[in-house]
Amino acid sequence: MSLGLILLGPPGAGKGTQAVQLSAKLGIPHISTGDMLREAVGSGREVGLRAKKYMDAGQLVPDSVVVAIVSERLSSADCAKGWLLDGFPRNEAQAEALDAELVRIGQKVGAVMYLRVSAEAVTSRLSGRRMCSNKQCNAGYHVDFMPSKKEGVCDKCGSALYQRNDDKPEIIRQRLQVYESDTASLVARYRAGRLLREVDASGSPEEVARGLMAAVDAVRGARWSS
Ligand code: AP5
Repeated sequence: MSLGLILLGPPGAGKGTQAVQLSAKLGIPHISTGDMLREAVGSGREVGLRAKKYMDAGQLVPDSVVVAIVSERLSSADCAKGWLLDGFPRNEAQAEALDAELVRIGQKVGAVMYLRVSAEAVTSRLSGRRMCSNKQCNAGYHVDFMPSKKEGVCDKCGSALYQRNDDKPEIIRQRLQVYESDTASLVARYRAGRLLREVDASGSPEEVARGLMAAVDAVRGARWSS
C-alpha cells in the first residue's frame, strides 16, 4: 500500500531535518522543492535561473515552475510505493495542482504532518543554520542546536559549511510573512479534509522525531485496520 505524506510548517520548523530521517525509516523518497530548486540554481539550469531571484528575495517561485518539477518527480518509479513532500504545496493553487496530479497518477495524500512551532523558535533556528556545501551531502547543522564537531566543517564529508542566502535576517522576516499570507491557510484546508496531524515541533530534534513517528504510526495503523 503506497503512503503519500506531506510535511507542512513554517520555514525553519525542521521539515528538512525530520524528512531526511523519516524518509529513510519509511523507505520512501524525500521530495524537497527547496533542495530541487537550489540544485537547479547551482547547476545553472534554465529553471534555476528563473527561480533564483525569487528565492534570494524570500518570495515563492512561480507555481508553474514548482508544479512542473513536482509532477515530474512524482511520476518516477521510486514514488510508486510512497513519497514525503517537504515544502510543497505552499499555497492553495499548488494544493489544487497536487490533487489533480495525484488523481492522474492514481495516488492520494495519506496524511499531512503539520510541524507546529513558534515564530521566535523558527527565527533562531534559521539564523544559526549552516549547510554542507557538497550538494551530494547537503547535511544541515545549527551553530547552537546541532553543531558540527569542527566549526565550519561537515562531520559527514569534511566539506565547508555555508549560510544560505535566504537565512539573512531581513529575508527570514520576508519568508515568514510569505508563509503567513500564502501557506498557513493550508492547515485549515487539510484539517477540513481530515488529513492533518499536528506534531509539536518545539522540542529537540529527537523529541520532534519521536512525535512525528508516533503520528505516522497512527496513520499507518488506521489504514491497515480500515
Ligand atoms: P525551502 O528550502 O523549502 O525553505 P523553507 O520552507 O523556508 O524551509 P527551510 O528549509 O528553511 O526550513 P526547514 O523547515 O526545512 O528547517 P530545517 O530542518 O532546515 O525553500 C526555500 C525557497 O525555495 C523558498 O523561500 C522559495 O523561494 C522556494 N520554494 C521552495 N518550495 C517552493 C514552493 N513549493 N513554491 C514556491 N517556491 C518554493 O531546520 C532549520 C534549522 O533548525 C537547522 O539549522 C536545523 O539544524 C535546526 N533545527 C531543526 N530542528 C530543530 C529542533 N527541533 N530544535 C532546534 N533546532 C532545530
